[in-house]
Amino acid sequence: MSAGEAPGAQIVSLLGEGDERTLAADVREGFSKPLKEIPPKHFYDTAGAELFDRICDLPEYYPTRAERAILEGQSDELAAATGLGELVELGSGTAEKTMVLLRAASQAGTLRRFVPVDVTEQMVRGCAARCAAELPELEVIGVVGDFGRHLDAIPPAQEGLPRAVALLGGTIGNFTPGERRELLSQMASLLRPETDFLLLGTDLVKDRDRLIAAYDDSQGATAEFNRNVLRVINRELGADFEPQAFEHVALWNEDEEWIEMRLRATRPMTVRIESLDMDVDFAEGEEIRTEISAKFTEERLEDDLGAAGLEATRVFHDPDRLFALSLARLAS
Ligand code: SAH
Ligand code: AVI
Repeated sequence: MSAGEAPGAQIVSLLGEGDERTLAADVREGFSKPLKEIPPKHFYDTAGAELFDRICDLPEYYPTRAERAILEGQSDELAAATGLGELVELGSGTAEKTMVLLRAASQAGTLRRFVPVDVTEQMVRGCAARCAAELPELEVIGVVGDFGRHLDAIPPAQEGLPRAVALLGGTIGNFTPGERRELLSQMASLLRPETDFLLLGTDLVKDRDRLIAAYDDSQGATAEFNRNVLRVINRELGADFEPQAFEHVALWNEDEEWIEMRLRATRPMTVRIESLDMDVDFAEGEEIRTEISAKFTEERLEDDLGAAGLEATRVFHDPDRLFALSLARLAS
């Protein structure tokens, strides 16, 4: 573990040298499957995080705007209902939407601490510094880590300070049903029964065309975000992928009710991955699955929360009911 400073904030890094996001193990395992696969957390190096930011502003990508609309409409109520003293946010990114809630809780006079957690160091440093500059009374502890592996190293809750643990943006949908429940259980383990809450953003099942457009935009930003994972593998594992030789694919899996992003080889090729001493063959048309983005119904949300020992106390929607923001606590 190493620590550092961003102006006005403390930074704790839980990622050691060579421990960057478990990429080597994930590539070795994922490329040995019949449908090649890479977990979506590997999109987010600095360039990937910038591309994600661009996606959030696209006309077709509604989730960010919808969740922001909920936060803008409901933050005073969320702050009052939780008595928010500490917010721990997993996959915080720029935390731009989160600031809406932090401002409301700060105005209410309850907020003392913000703990943004993200696998991308620059994102944590930038977000922690901006937050500390805007809300100087706040203790900001930025954690650079993998929320799948490092939740036990989150600073402990403080006596008498109500905590909320947040996962916004629909990021929970980037996990398979089993992984989702495991992650929610781990988040639940950070909560105390009497005082603490979970805040979960989920994108909702809707019209197929609207969903596909959100993941296959006309400017091609999502396609570049998708190909970025190949650039990450090239740089970090000494591979020789030609990103432009792979086509972006976004499909709606009707049975699972999730979007899948894939990269399709446009010709047969062999890719060398030097650090793994591995040669990977691709047939023309062969695909790598790079992300699932599960969409939720009321029932799916309730089942996932219930399986993790949680129950929703309030579910907020944007005016068009595209997205849901749930406030949950440990089930009694
Ligand atoms: N919460 C923001 C960002 C969502 S993008 C929003 O709602 O807009 C997903 C974020 O989660 C990225 O910043 C990415 O770096 C981070 N992330 C993805 N997998 C992660 C993991 N396993 N551990 C920590 N951060 C992760
Ligand atoms: C971060 N996550 C919730 C985004 C999503 O919509 O699944 C990532 C993304 N993938 C393509 N566009 C955005």
